Amino acid sequence: MTYAVIAAGGIGSRMGNMEKPKQYLKIKDKPIIVHTVEKFFVNSKFRKVIILCPDQWVNYTKELLAKYLPENDKVLVLKGGSTRNETIMNSIRYIEETDGLDDETIIVTHDAVRPFVSARIIDENIEAALKYGATDTVVPATDTIVESQNGETISSIPDRSKLYQGQTPQAFKAKLLKELYYSLTEEEKDILTDACKIFSMKGYDVHMIDGEVHNIKITYPYDLRVAKALLDEEL
Ligand code: CTP
Repeated sequence: MTYAVIAAGGIGSRMGNMEKPKQYLKIKDKPIIVHTVEKFFVNSKFRKVIILCPDQWVNYTKELLAKYLPENDKVLVLKGGSTRNETIMNSIRYIEETDGLDDETIIVTHDAVRPFVSARIIDENIEAALKYGATDTVVPATDTIVESQNGETISSIPDRSKLYQGQTPQAFKAKLLKELYYSLTEEEKDILTDACKIFSMKGYDVHMIDGEVHNIKITYPYDLRVAKALLDEEL
């Protein structure tokens, strides 16, 4: 079975002082998180769409869903974790307790703050996760990326043609992700902030899915302006 896992457990500190975490800010007619959830809700491949948000925002999120996606039992809200990976683990724990985990249990994890994800990207992630076990959505790097070990001088400039920028979704065989995550030491958990990195560090291939430039993540106030402009184009 396949589940959508919407990671909304962050507080959006880079957005500056906001009355609400960024996933609840409105673009156009509805909150960002609602735009995002709708992209998964309409896809019949998902048994459930699991939203994970900060503990103190769980009730608020439930109210939003009751308002924008009323009378459905496909979407549910749970408490997120202290890190993005812990948030994902909470969703796996829920799936295990309710439906059980097997080798075909797929989770398609997605940032609540990437409302422009396309149906094509979602479908390709599902298919490839079943086949390969782990996927990451990426776009070729456009800027030259420079590496600095000390933050003052450049230590290397990797070949741009081999560099990509990671987006989401990232999809996984949930049982395998759980096993790999709980095999990590606390120190490794601190370093492996990206779930795909857990797979690659443990010697598993992560299949790449072509992302899209407009599948932006809303991180800074500027991104909110871009998102509003993109939505104007869509309408
Ligand atoms: N996220 C999560 N659980 C956490 C931390 C982050 O589910 N413990 C989610 C965020 O809600 C967001 C996504 O992961 O949808 C991508 O993270 P990011 O853009 O870094 O969000 P925040 O952590 O909210 O932002 P910031 O780093 O600026 O505080």
